[in-house]
Amino acid sequence: MTIQWFPGHMAKARREVSEKLKFVDIVFELIDARLPLSSRNPMLDQIVQQKPRLILLNKSDLADINQTNQWLNYFRDQGHQVLALTAKDDKSVKQIVPASKKVLTEKIARDKDRGVKPRAIRAMVLGIPNVGKSTLLNHLAGKKIASTGNRPGVTKGQQWLRFGTQLELLDTPGILWPKFEDPAVGKKLALTGAIKDDLLHLDDLALYQLEIFCRYYPEQLKDRYKLTNEDLFLDFPELLMLISEKRGFRDDYERASEMLILELRQGKLGRYTLDRFEELSE
Ligand code: G4P
Repeated sequence: MTIQWFPGHMAKARREVSEKLKFVDIVFELIDARLPLSSRNPMLDQIVQQKPRLILLNKSDLADINQTNQWLNYFRDQGHQVLALTAKDDKSVKQIVPASKKVLTEKIARDKDRGVKPRAIRAMVLGIPNVGKSTLLNHLAGKKIASTGNRPGVTKGQQWLRFGTQLELLDTPGILWPKFEDPAVGKKLALTGAIKDDLLHLDDLALYQLEIFCRYYPEQLKDRYKLTNEDLFLDFPELLMLISEKRGFRDDYERASEMLILELRQGKLGRYTLDRFEELSE
């Protein structure tokens, strides 16, 4: 579900997250592996500040593996701990505890030196709508779900979920607003379904999709829509027209655009990444 963000919503979201931050040792920043820059909240550093953070590139099952590897290095170079994740997959989710311990190495050592009894790591999940926060919480908690009850000071009704003996999570994620100033970011978010596409024209989105696929994933596009190499030299509106005809939609470009976007979201065009690592330095 996506809401329109107004300044009041943003201030409230920020306040709620800041409130919860006090009770956790670490933040799990969930971002979409297909959009490692565009799917981050623009004020995240200011909001999270010095709180230890683990970055999770979620939906990595849908993203271009080469790009994901480059983005992982990018975040590591910035001094972050980062994992490629598939929140739907329990095996993938299991990597989170050891990675969290790495982030908290110093704190764990300090506690040990001081003779503080080891306890479970307390965490919260944070991210823009649709990046998979609920999916991650469900898979972390899963059948092992065990509400540990309210802790003093935590927002009333806030529960903790336990993952094994080593991790406790706030049961509601922190939801922050996406970037929306840059129209290209808006298109990318809409294509992956992170923001409502009725805010944008479907054919604009589909043309953008064709541009990206002709440039970076031409084989995937050819395979899916039975196109020739020559077809890929058409300009994008003509290509959209051709695909529309091939699918029997004639000149109903709206319907053809809708189909293209739906198939992209369903993963029928294969893996893809919209935020291109190589464009960082352009
Ligand atoms: P949110 O709480 O951050 O808003 O996101 P949520 O968990 O609701 O996930 C949004 C959509 O992303 C869901 O799909 C969910 O299944 C999907 N998703 C989450 N994590 C992953 C992942 O690692 N890989 C893939 N492929 N998909 C993921 P949906 O279509 O809205 O619902 P449904 O298909 O689960 O019914």
